Amino acid sequence: MTATTAIKPDSKRSQRLNQITHEPHSRLDNLVKSHEPFASPERFARFVAAQHLFQYDLEALYTDERLCALVPDLPQRCRVQQTRMDLADLKHPVPQGDDAIRSQSMDLGEALAWLFVSEGSKLGAAFLLKRMPALGLSETFGARHLGEPEGGRAEGWKRFTAVLDNLSLDTEQEALADAAAIAAFDRFTQHLERCFAA
Ligand code: HEM
Repeated sequence: MTATTAIKPDSKRSQRLNQITHEPHSRLDNLVKSHEPFASPERFARFVAAQHLFQYDLEALYTDERLCALVPDLPQRCRVQQTRMDLADLKHPVPQGDDAIRSQSMDLGEALAWLFVSEGSKLGAAFLLKRMPALGLSETFGARHLGEPEGGRAEGWKRFTAVLDNLSLDTEQEALADAAAIAAFDRFTQHLERCFAA
């Protein structure tokens, strides 16, 4: 039997996105673990390659004028450069991304929902970072993209979700945002499978 979770109509948008991506998040978490990214720096490099492809997808959103007007420090939040440096530290090739996501013209809510998934992944990154010393890696070598953002993880997340929650969207735009959050998890999953199959 498939359980469905009732979503309160008055709950915050960020809470709703959190709820509807709970299952994809836990599937992704299990998938990450099944690939044993902490078994060696070589295996971890494949995880970084997937992170790179995801950040590459979102690179243009992080500098989008409309979005930067809402989240002023948005460009500094992008981790595409850190993933490149991590891959260089790990002596792993930078995978070639594609334009499937970069070329999409997105509604505001849709774009913020993609960024919600990327920004949210910084929360889990704190747990991943704890595994790095065993691999000889840290937030200054090989695992820069997992590092604590300036101002702190919780604070950055609070500011981002406040913007997301205060945006006015109509029903159609809300539906686009929901679909985008799910699509972002699907996309990361594809990147992960590609990088571990390589
Ligand atoms: C591409 C997106 C994401 C990836 C690859 C990802 C990956 C992970 C992984 C692997 C863990 C487990 C860490 C451990 O226990 O060792 C984790 C935990 C966590 N993630 Fe994510 N995550 C993503 C998106 C998100 C989003 C959108 C949120 C918030 C809305 C989030 C919030 C958390 C939190 C709070 C944890 C800590 C433990 C937990 O509650 O499960 N993550 N994440």
